[in-house]
Amino acid sequence: MLDVFPVNDYGPIMPGLVMAAVAIVHVFLAQFAVGGGILLCYLQWLGMTGRNPHARQFVAGYFKVLVLISFVLGALTGVGIWFTAIQVSPHTIGSMVQNFHWLWATEWLFFSLEIVSGYCFYRYHSRLSDNASMVLLVIYAVASWMSLYLINGILSWQLTPGRWLETHTLFDGFYNPSFWPSLLFRTVVAMTLASLAACVVINLMTSVDREAKTSLMNRVAELLIPMVIMPGLGLWFLAVMPADSRSWVLGGSPAMMLFLNISIGSSLAIGAYALLGLVLQRLFINTATAGLLLLLAFGATAGGEFVREGSRKPYSVRHVLYSNSIRPQDVAQMRVVGCTANDPYPLRNDSIYPNDQVRLGGKVFRRQCSVCHTVEGTNGVTELTGAWDTNQCRLNIAKLQHTKPFMPPFAGTPQELEALVQFINWSSAERPEAWRENTDPTDFAQIKTWLEEAGTAPGDFKQNNKRRQELIR
Ligand code: HEC
Repeated sequence: MLDVFPVNDYGPIMPGLVMAAVAIVHVFLAQFAVGGGILLCYLQWLGMTGRNPHARQFVAGYFKVLVLISFVLGALTGVGIWFTAIQVSPHTIGSMVQNFHWLWATEWLFFSLEIVSGYCFYRYHSRLSDNASMVLLVIYAVASWMSLYLINGILSWQLTPGRWLETHTLFDGFYNPSFWPSLLFRTVVAMTLASLAACVVINLMTSVDREAKTSLMNRVAELLIPMVIMPGLGLWFLAVMPADSRSWVLGGSPAMMLFLNISIGSSLAIGAYALLGLVLQRLFINTATAGLLLLLAFGATAGGEFVREGSRKPYSVRHVLYSNSIRPQDVAQMRVVGCTANDPYPLRNDSIYPNDQVRLGGKVFRRQCSVCHTVEGTNGVTELTGAWDTNQCRLNIAKLQHTKPFMPPFAGTPQELEALVQFINWSSAERPEAWRENTDPTDFAQIKTWLEEAGTAPGDFKQNNKRRQELIR
């Protein structure tokens, strides 16, 4: 059994959502930085070869925006991810570090290179020759794309560990089945973000006239062209996804479907506008339109990241670790020894609990459910169990992985399960001061039977789909 680490309680906000919010902002900024590098190299080249007389001015102005956003906000949210991850799921981040620490080390080298070359360009480019500036920009662009390359391997491994599950080699883990579609997809997204942000910056340039602005905009819009392969890359990604994850995304989970649709809808809107208006008709777009497109791109990124994270359920590393930091192979043992046996941390406001059973239930909830549920807030269990009587609640939690196959199997003793049910009932009853402990042995025996019927293997989504269809019929 894995050690238990203290986790943070964010009240009515699900820890997964806190993590998602920080991660989405960071991914957006980081991908903008990667695309920005590519865009700057292109514009510097246009300037140097005389293809666009205003390119130099643009490069200087755009770089300032990039520095402010990617260095300052990007670095802050990057640290924020680590800070949040260790409060939400220390074991997930732990296994990512443990299995790939040389990759992280390499990634940080590239990040340092990105910072140093970026800073040198920012500080000295007005005094440098064209060629020297170009060298700095190329180093900057390659270094930032390489950090995407490296992180992408580690993140995609979480969803599709592939052959790594047998071999445990770094190579198999890194070049896993979703590595390439996801890297290419992110690269195209990065170029799109950089190009849309550039349209805003061009609008805000005061030293050039409208004609110059249009000529610059036509150039930066060329980075939107790769968007045409996005649908293909998206389908490729779906194809390499595990079948159950794909089924959540394509209708198994309404929330995930919604976010996928937001993502696809926004991307299509941007793609259509960008390709028809900016690339084909060479239109000029004003600050408001460019800003709106950028906002849509943020929506698409948010939806996409949400789906990518959500579709891993019930795992945080597929087949290796459940989202609640319990390993699949430990479930059977935890059914015997319990999930709270090695959890030394007291509950927050320990004194409000009316008895030890409810207190135990609070700990079981924290250990097994709190990463995806709150008590009464987002995805709150009191709300979700509201229509069930106590026995139904016992049954459905005992068979958690069959109730919804994107939940892991229950990993505790019958006593712990009863404690959890009492905790939920007590919370639904608005936490009265007095609450009777349930010590009825027939209830425990019944729970034990249900747990045995449920088994310790993860839920089978095919069986679950069949069951659901039968219910509908
Ligand atoms: C990996 C994340 C995850 C974990 C861990 C998890 N759940 Fe869930 N659970 C979900 C999601 C997602 C839903 C779907 C919510 C919806 O349909 O709106 C859900 C649904 C439920 C429902 C409603 C089921 C139904 O059929 O309507 C209950 C009750 C529930 N969970 C209880 C629990 C309890 C108790 C635990 C801890 C023992 C737990 N869950 C652990 C993600 C999780």
